[in-house]
Amino acid sequence: FSPELTDLVREHVREIPDFPAPGVLFRDITPLLADGPAFEGLVRGLADSYRGRVDAVAGLESRGFILAAPLAIELGVGMITVRKAGRLPGPVIGVDYALEYGTARMELRPDTIERGQRVLVIDDVLATGGTGAAAIELVERSGGEVVALAMLLELAALGGRSKLDGYQVDSVLVY
Ligand code: PRP
Ligand code: MG
Repeated sequence: FSPELTDLVREHVREIPDFPAPGVLFRDITPLLADGPAFEGLVRGLADSYRGRVDAVAGLESRGFILAAPLAIELGVGMITVRKAGRLPGPVIGVDYALEYGTARMELRPDTIERGQRVLVIDDVLATGGTGAAAIELVERSGGEVVALAMLLELAALGGRSKLDGYQVDSVLVY
């Protein structure tokens, strides 16, 4: 991504101490979304890196959806919804993954992906990498080919990149 895009994101992310728990510094992207020109610049900047290289954009519920939909339109491709457990009508496939405390599950309707489709996976934050790794597995089991994972923010201290070994991980801003 361009240095301008990284600056744009840095300038519009708000840092909130002690959220959602004491000692945690939360990086809030809502000011970036609420600023029309900034949001448009974000979507254009993301799209510039993938034009002509992807056949679909897969957004990860919930915050990934906010980015995936406008990006898919800007790229002229469809959007695939990778959803939290129990929300997609069948037939679905699912992957369970570990959270800091407990587990979670992401699901996908495999018939939303065509065999060999080049898929860009996008989410707002890369933390431990569990969500991204689950999304990769779902896309590949559905016959898609993961071109890259695009992340707005990467929390490097949590080591998520190591769970995504062998894949192109593009983060706009790394903390
Ligand atoms: C957050 C964030 C990423 C994920 C990253 O989602 O939006 O999707 O955690 O964490 P990981 O790399 O450790 O898997 P979350 O499900 O908390 O909330 P959301 O529904 O607001 O997207
Ligand atoms: Mg999320």
